[in-house]
Amino acid sequence: MAAALPLLLSACLGGPQYPNSTFTDHTDFNRDASELWNTMMLWGAIVFVFVEVLLVYTMWKYRRRPGGPEPEHVHGNTRLELTWTVLPAVILVFIAVPTVRSIWRFQSGAPANALQIDVIGHQWWWEFRYPEQGIVTANELYLPVGRPVNFNLTSKDVIHSFWIPQLGGKRDAVTNRTNHLWFTPDSVTPNAFNGSCNEFCGASHANMRFRAYVVSEADFASWAAGQAQNAVFPPPAPDTAGGASAATVSNPAPAQAPALPLAPGYMFPAEQLPAHVVPQTPIPDGLVIPDEVLAAGDPQRGFEQYNRSLCIGCHRIRGNPRSPGVIGPDLTHLGSRHTLGAGLFRNDARHLAAWIKNARRMKPLSSTSMPAVGLGEIDPFTKQPVTAALGGLNDQQIADIVAYLLALK
Ligand code: CUA
Repeated sequence: MAAALPLLLSACLGGPQYPNSTFTDHTDFNRDASELWNTMMLWGAIVFVFVEVLLVYTMWKYRRRPGGPEPEHVHGNTRLELTWTVLPAVILVFIAVPTVRSIWRFQSGAPANALQIDVIGHQWWWEFRYPEQGIVTANELYLPVGRPVNFNLTSKDVIHSFWIPQLGGKRDAVTNRTNHLWFTPDSVTPNAFNGSCNEFCGASHANMRFRAYVVSEADFASWAAGQAQNAVFPPPAPDTAGGASAATVSNPAPAQAPALPLAPGYMFPAEQLPAHVVPQTPIPDGLVIPDEVLAAGDPQRGFEQYNRSLCIGCHRIRGNPRSPGVIGPDLTHLGSRHTLGAGLFRNDARHLAAWIKNARRMKPLSSTSMPAVGLGEIDPFTKQPVTAALGGLNDQQIADIVAYLLALK
């Protein structure tokens, strides 16, 4: 056991091979927790070694010997009893003082300059709102390095729990009160981290994941500016003001300047993502739409198809007035995300198409969430085949919608 203990402890150390360890120095919160842990481990180890050595020595020294005398019977030893009461009490003070200090530090409210993020748990995905920046997004957080961030945690349904092990947490998200959690990501940039739900919340509790990207202040500002924009689709027509056609000559000064084309904001570079934040979940059998069908997906047709489909009842795309839904994740900048289905799948055409085809087969979902949409698919919840009358879509229609949604950078 003594030989196994160092191995066990080494499994808790941070580093790339332990991507979900809490023993990191990425935030003030985790540094504080690690120091507390080390203090307690030190005192625990001292007490353990002292007690065990004393125990083994006593067992050996006073073991029964053949023909030995009857041991002396004693009752009470005031000096000994005082020692083993006072000494642990003093040790507890050494542990309690830093513990209470940490609790006060991280429970007394975030610094005034903290970035505010509202976190809303849903079965089974995370909604993130940045009220100052006017951003609503899902399942992917961007955090600027060096600035405290204050999470205001609530839930739309049952109890969830918010945790990014390498940065800080965890804390419950409940319906009838707002919990707070704050920390300062101050030593890693750029880097990507796994987050997850840590309170059992139903069938897809294990599939309620998210990502956190710690980026430079400039990259955060660029991301935020991009996310705050409305989705612009179809893209603005090419500027004809500089052309030499008869039309522009006869109308040289347009009454209104053309809208600026949408400039997508910063997106965490895919090639810099550590392997442990890239989802590996396979697509279930029968849901893969062939690549040639996906390649033929047309964003303009997809835009029109999307606006006629069931999608608009639950999803919001700012800038597309036909899509005002609020039940599901905001899709305004879906194309700027790396993951899909609360961190379960890669956000690419294949996975997004399979997701639209039969989300409840991609991951167990509740009755109120995304139904199967692929024509002929059996919805695992209703157990009924999807028909055209129910709004079912064929593979090409889905491929078109995928092309539209992934164009929303
Ligand atoms: Cu949400 Cu577990």
